[in-house]
Amino acid sequence: MENKIEEFEKDIEKLLISSKEEAESFRIRFLGSKNVLKNLFSEIKNVPQDKRKSVGQLINKLKNKAQDKLDKFTHSADNQEDESSDLDLTLPGENVSLGSRHPISLVTEQIVDIFKRIGFNVSEGPEIEDDWHNFSALNLPEEHPARDMQDTFFIEKDPDYLLRTHTSSVQVRVMENEKPPIRTITPGRVFRNEAISARAHCFFHQVEGLYIDKDVSFADLKQTLDFFAKELFGETAKIRMRPSYFPFTEPSAEVDVSCTLCATKGCNVCKYTGWLEILGCGMVDPNVLKNCGIDPEVYSGFAFGMGVERIAQLKYQVKDLRLYSENDVRFLNQFKSAL
Ligand code: DAH
Repeated sequence: MENKIEEFEKDIEKLLISSKEEAESFRIRFLGSKNVLKNLFSEIKNVPQDKRKSVGQLINKLKNKAQDKLDKFTHSADNQEDESSDLDLTLPGENVSLGSRHPISLVTEQIVDIFKRIGFNVSEGPEIEDDWHNFSALNLPEEHPARDMQDTFFIEKDPDYLLRTHTSSVQVRVMENEKPPIRTITPGRVFRNEAISARAHCFFHQVEGLYIDKDVSFADLKQTLDFFAKELFGETAKIRMRPSYFPFTEPSAEVDVSCTLCATKGCNVCKYTGWLEILGCGMVDPNVLKNCGIDPEVYSGFAFGMGVERIAQLKYQVKDLRLYSENDVRFLNQFKSAL
């Protein structure tokens, strides 16, 4: 046994390692998973009991010797490579191109920031919603004709679940869970079963607003939206309200903002009307308050909802809705300066 160890020791010392190939065969022979030293370890059982310990130590030494020899070669090989490589540290580095924020995120953030400044907090809700939160609680019972206004994606297995058609569903969740005063803003993605074209998409983004307290009036709604329009579109922006209908608000209105591109003179963006429609709003219907456990005799409130793509389109003159979801870097790169 001791002789064998000695022989291996000589081998290790003698063997020349001058190339990577030689190093690899050395490694396989002495340090690989089927190395020759393993046989020595398995033969230890034949060595008399009192010598086993010292023989074991000898074999371990052998192993370390082989490892040292290999390490020495690899280090010197590394150094040589460094010295002989054409690495030129004075050359300019590779260009790492920075991404840009998506226009929908940029505009959502601007909208949310404006409302945060006047005391609104941010709430979120699920994109897969149930019938109650998306429709019934919002005064849209099953047979109500207003349900036709929204083409809904129902979940096939259980039509009580659907992809929310508007962020108004989160209003319901907030009112169910919080006590007035409530001032909240809800950004989120919504879904409608529409054919995809330049003007319509099967998903888009909305920001919903809700304010519930004692004595909230239509004047508060108007003032809030006027402030919002001026902050978003500039000091000269004006709003006008047109009577409208939503099942969850009474009275309801649609809000137009003066076209800042042509200063209401008329252009192709505002279709020569001088005004652009940006949102729907109204005083929360007493039935909706009741559905959500809020006493309409004590509290009143307003709500509004706007499409983020629509507002981004006005701010950045994006004419085709499909561009927002195509991930074309030529489109996205244009928003770098808006970071
Ligand atoms: N949910 C409406 C829609 O998707 C928008 C809306 C209108 C929201 C009036 C409101 C509101 O909160 O009061 O078209």
